[in-house]
Amino acid sequence: MEKQPQALRLCALTLICITLSSLLHHVEAQNQKGFISLDCGLSPNEPPYNDPSTGLTYSTDDGFVQSGKTGKIQKEFEAIFSKPSLKLRYFPDGVRNCYTVNVTEGTNYLIKAVFVYGNYDGLANDPSFDLYLGPNVWSTVDMNGRTNGTIEEIIHRTISKSLQVCLVKTGTSNPFINTLELRPLKNNTYNTQSGSLKYFFRYYFSTSDRTIRYPNDVHDRKWYPFFDSKEWTEVTTDLNVNASNGYEPPQIVMASASTPISTFWPWNFTWSLPSSTTQFYVYLHFAEIQTLKPLDTREFKVTMNGKLAYERALELFTVIDFPQLETNQDDVVAIKGIQNTYGLTRVTWNGDPCVPKQFLWDGLNCNSLDISTPPLITSLNLSSSQLTGIIAPGINDLIHLQELDLSNNNLTGGVPEFLAGMKSLLVINLSGNNLNGTVPQAILQKKGLKLNLEGNSDLICLGGLCVNKTGHGGSKKPNVVVPAVASVAFLVVLGSALAFFLVFKKKKNANIEVSDDRTTRSSEPAIMTKNKRFTYSEVVTMTNNFERVLGKGGFGMVYHGTVSGTEQVAVKMLSHSSSQGYKEFKAEVELLLRVHHKNLVGLVGYCDEGENLALIYEYMANGDLREHMSGKRGGSILNWETRLKIVVESAQGLEYLHNGCKPPMVHRDVKTTNILLNEHFQAKLADFGLSRSFPIEGETHVSTVVAGTPGYLDPEYYRTNWLNEKSDVYSFGIVLLEIITNQPVINQSREKPHIAEWVGLMLTKGDIKNIMDPNLYGDYDSGSVWRAVELAMSCLNPSSARRPTMSQVVIEINECLAYENSRGGTSHNMNSQSSIEVSMNFDIGITPGPR
Ligand SMILES: *[C@@H]1O[C@H](CO)[C@@H](O)[C@H](O)[C@H]1NC(C)=O
Ligand SMILES: *[C@@H]1O[C@H](CO)[C@@H](O)[C@H](O)[C@H]1NC(C)=O
Ligand SMILES: *[C@@H]1O[C@H](CO)[C@@H](O)[C@H](O)[C@H]1NC(C)=O
Ligand SMILES: *[C@@H]1O[C@H](CO)[C@@H](O)[C@H](O)[C@H]1NC(C)=O
Ligand SMILES: *[C@@H]1O[C@H](CO)[C@@H](O)[C@H](O)[C@H]1NC(C)=O
Ligand SMILES: *[C@@H]1O[C@H](CO)[C@@H](O)[C@H](O)[C@H]1NC(C)=O
Ligand SMILES: *[C@@H]1O[C@H](CO)[C@@H](O)[C@H](O)[C@H]1NC(C)=O
Ligand SMILES: *[C@@H]1O[C@H](CO)[C@@H](O)[C@H](O)[C@H]1NC(C)=O
Ligand SMILES: *[C@@H]1O[C@H](CO)[C@@H](O)[C@H](O)[C@H]1NC(C)=O
Ligand SMILES: *[C@@H]1O[C@H](CO)[C@@H](O)[C@H](O)[C@H]1NC(C)=O
Repeated sequence: MEKQPQALRLCALTLICITLSSLLHHVEAQNQKGFISLDCGLSPNEPPYNDPSTGLTYSTDDGFVQSGKTGKIQKEFEAIFSKPSLKLRYFPDGVRNCYTVNVTEGTNYLIKAVFVYGNYDGLANDPSFDLYLGPNVWSTVDMNGRTNGTIEEIIHRTISKSLQVCLVKTGTSNPFINTLELRPLKNNTYNTQSGSLKYFFRYYFSTSDRTIRYPNDVHDRKWYPFFDSKEWTEVTTDLNVNASNGYEPPQIVMASASTPISTFWPWNFTWSLPSSTTQFYVYLHFAEIQTLKPLDTREFKVTMNGKLAYERALELFTVIDFPQLETNQDDVVAIKGIQNTYGLTRVTWNGDPCVPKQFLWDGLNCNSLDISTPPLITSLNLSSSQLTGIIAPGINDLIHLQELDLSNNNLTGGVPEFLAGMKSLLVINLSGNNLNGTVPQAILQKKGLKLNLEGNSDLICLGGLCVNKTGHGGSKKPNVVVPAVASVAFLVVLGSALAFFLVFKKKKNANIEVSDDRTTRSSEPAIMTKNKRFTYSEVVTMTNNFERVLGKGGFGMVYHGTVSGTEQVAVKMLSHSSSQGYKEFKAEVELLLRVHHKNLVGLVGYCDEGENLALIYEYMANGDLREHMSGKRGGSILNWETRLKIVVESAQGLEYLHNGCKPPMVHRDVKTTNILLNEHFQAKLADFGLSRSFPIEGETHVSTVVAGTPGYLDPEYYRTNWLNEKSDVYSFGIVLLEIITNQPVINQSREKPHIAEWVGLMLTKGDIKNIMDPNLYGDYDSGSVWRAVELAMSCLNPSSARRPTMSQVVIEINECLAYENSRGGTSHNMNSQSSIEVSMNFDIGITPGPR
């Protein structure tokens, strides 16, 4: 490869390469494997045919190109030309029109395009236009003076599974093409350091006037004869010339050669390049075609413009660089899939979607940082494009998409949930379609998403947020009115939940009795009076578009929120993906609408719009008991008095469920993570998702599914499915052991894995200190601790009948607390509340409970 040297001299003896006519007649059927031979403009109805002169099979270009019209050269030219050049495809519409061909990635292809004008349009005006390979210019085709037609040829290594050959209008004339041919080459041939090889010439040295191509050349290269009779003599052979290397030059080509008339003269060959900076590759193919005498050797030097050159050539190519990378192939495949789905025939939707920039597909936007980075599709705008059918699933594959505008079409079906999973997506406009069904909550909840669903009259979208949802959670007045009919479908899904709301709202004051005379009302306002139904948009506003996650519950996420500007709340969203969660949600709604107590987490309100179900609780700023026991929340560990106070309050909440409610309720999931603490460290029971009521007559109840948390589960209930309040008592006993020992409920590496067995074992060894939480540093009244241990063990009696009732438990722990409080002169003289407040970090809160 050198800069513009042109004279190739073979200072040598004999030479090479010229025709051997006997071989010409052996035109055997050869393998056309991987060949693509398109007769452009051939009707799709016409079957593929074999070109008699080459045996190549040509077929219609239909399916390789989406645009253009077909034409054929005028009669007067038919004498000169033959199939497949008689027909052509021309492109009156659009600037760029492309053929897309499936190729093998990473393979060198010989690509040929043939252009024969033949005055097909009757204008007698030679067209001129550009030819592109993907996003890069390959050549300018100018038919001026080319009545015999012209061929563009290039050897190009594919970088993806598809290759685009584009014709680009540069003036007023319409681009056209007669044939397009692709031939895969051997992998290790025609490699370049960079760039592709644009054909310059390809000669074989023979006095023949015959051009050689397929099938003589298995790669269908076209070899033109060339001979300088004044300087050269021709040498030929009948022998089979062994020139088998990857380039596989044809036998005919290699069997004829030229040699200088005089051995004293060099064999001189000269050409001119377009410019002094043009880079080129020259390929010389040598073969010995004369029988040399035993001691003879043939030897010569090859010089290029006087310098020694080492390439062996006969073909010459100029190097053409294709610097612009194609659009990300996954994006290309995706957008083409969408194009197919909707049958889009936009004139610009041709060739590479993003590059070159002047040919960007209309309705797309891409980010193209520089030419050496594959551009990505970032915006798809098919607004007012008469789209019908559903929202194309292929959109999901445009993973870099930031904006999607499908507004003002005739799209039907539902809003697909995958839109919520598209990470980059910031804007979705589906307004003005005929979409139906319910809008997936995940989309409505997606942060930072601008969503417009207006004008889809069948879209079930109770939340005002369906309309013009903004990235900041702000909402506008809902104007998607839910037609009464639509609620039918809605009821099918949510029927029972709605029934619940209705029944209990109705019955609230009638036959459900809530007797709480034995519990002191706290100073906080009654939950029921505050109990409020919120719209979904209010939920979004109160959570600031679900900005802060407090935790993940059994049936959905719990978010922090603020009501009326100041009151902090915890908002538990029902994820509709969980059917188990849905049952629990109902159970919790049932319970909380019936009961309220200062030691049960209060319901501030709820939301039941469409698929948007939410429970809004009072905010429990200090998280759960387990966190405090484990030290996870930082600060000092709870002292004994505070622990007792917390369990007293929890016991009161539980006792209220058992005795204050008619019919009685069983919590069924008492555990330290379900005991929550508010800003004053007041304890409240949470998570009533598993709660069950049973007949007031006291008949015990067989539940079909045993539920609860391992370790806390009453073994008797587990054995018998016999559900009663004593199951809660058992679980409460475990909670007591936890505050005493601060040991995990189950620890396989312990002598006895289960905490009850372990404490039992330790107690038989007699020393209570071995079981006490070492973090208490002995700072407790041992009488108080003993009573607590005894109480815990009685709660854990295997026989439920022999366990105390929660009323008895409340009395007992209050006595423990009294013992501890009566302890004088201890190190802690602050009240528990303030000491905790000083020492702990109250910043993070969590409410109704992760289970
Ligand atoms: C190219 O390949 C794709 C799938 O890989 C196929 O759907 C398409 O029909 C092919 N195109 C042509 C022209 O064969
Ligand atoms: C076209 O081909 C014919 C016959 O091969 C030749 O005589 C004529 O000069 C060619 N015309 C051009 C413009 O090259
Ligand atoms: C062709 O060669 C390239 C590198 O030169 C290699 O990566 C590729 O696997 C080869 N392909 C085939 C089909 O051998
Ligand atoms: C051609 O030459 C190569 C190596 O010199 C050899 O392996 C091969 O057998 C020869 N082929 C024929 C047809 O003689
Ligand atoms: C080769 O031919 C070119 C042009 O025909 C001429 O300029 C050059 O001097 C020749 N070289 C030799 C060594 O004869
Ligand atoms: C989509 O295109 C229309 C006009 O064709 C325009 O009004 C609208 O703003 C575009 N959408 C986006 C998201 O830019
Ligand atoms: C939209 O599609 C529906 C059903 O396919 C059809 O009845 C209606 O006429 C279409 N509307 C428009 C504006 O194309
Ligand atoms: C669709 O909505 C988006 C975001 O609200 C907006 O940018 C775009 O202009 C809308 N499209 C049309 C056609 O109004
Ligand atoms: C939505 O409309 C399609 C017809 O366009 C219908 O098949 C489908 O059942 C509808 N879905 C709902 C949830 O109404
Ligand atoms: C929603 O946005 C569209 C355009 O983006 C606007 O025309 C319409 O008035 C908005 N609707 C509401 C309720 O703000």
